[in-house]
Amino acid sequence: MQRTPEPELMLDPAQARAYAAADFDAPNAAFVEALLGRFPELDGHLDVIDLGCGPGEILIRLARLRPNWQLLGVDGSAAMLDAGMDAIAESGRESQITLLQALLGDETLPEASAGLVISNSLLHHLRDPAALWRELRRLGAPGAAVFVQDLRRPTDAAQARALVETYAATEPEVLQQDFFASLLAAYTVEEVRAQLADAGLDLAVAETSDRHLQAWGRLP
Ligand SMILES: C[S@@+](CC[C@H](N)C(=O)[O-])C[C@H]1O[C@@H](n2cnc3c(N)ncnc32)[C@H](O)[C@@H]1O
Repeated sequence: MQRTPEPELMLDPAQARAYAAADFDAPNAAFVEALLGRFPELDGHLDVIDLGCGPGEILIRLARLRPNWQLLGVDGSAAMLDAGMDAIAESGRESQITLLQALLGDETLPEASAGLVISNSLLHHLRDPAALWRELRRLGAPGAAVFVQDLRRPTDAAQARALVETYAATEPEVLQQDFFASLLAAYTVEEVRAQLADAGLDLAVAETSDRHLQAWGRLP
């Protein structure tokens, strides 16, 4: 099935609220478990950047598990960051997590600063996927760890509909539509491998669930 792009930023407050309230427990837990499992050495002080952080649920999970980490979440959508600010205040982790409204490529973001750069579910939003891989290289310090998770594109629309039915049947309609559009906009493992080769990044890529892929490794 050919890729169908979706809008990059999630600017609509209703869409952002529905996303923030949705149950992403399983994929977010899988993200954190795989990240910490693949980089067990990252247990001391660390500056971390999360690109396309949305409402910040992964940042909060990481802050709880790694109290020595300082986390910066970056997103272009004020509506998403509003939801994130509330969640972070509720978590009591304000001293560990900072949120910044910025687009990928924003010159005010701290270059070569992070020991770990992460991203969950941003890649499929991007018309130019190279923008994510460029940004990981620009913001990560030399040798920094990199961990990315995203949806992967099903073989056809029927398979995408079945995934929506399996994982989002009880979510609001706006979220079901969002999930369907995201699956159609997602990249395949083969496409991600080609993107990484173009970007000169030597990262591992694997299918990690019926709807996810992960890419991880170290920057040059
Ligand atoms: C599907 S959400 C994922 C949010 C979060 N990472 C999570 O796992 O819940 C994708 C986020 O990326 C943001 N985004 C999309 N394109 C962006 C860009 N070019 N620069 C910054 N943020 C972007 C959207 O606004 C949205 O909040």
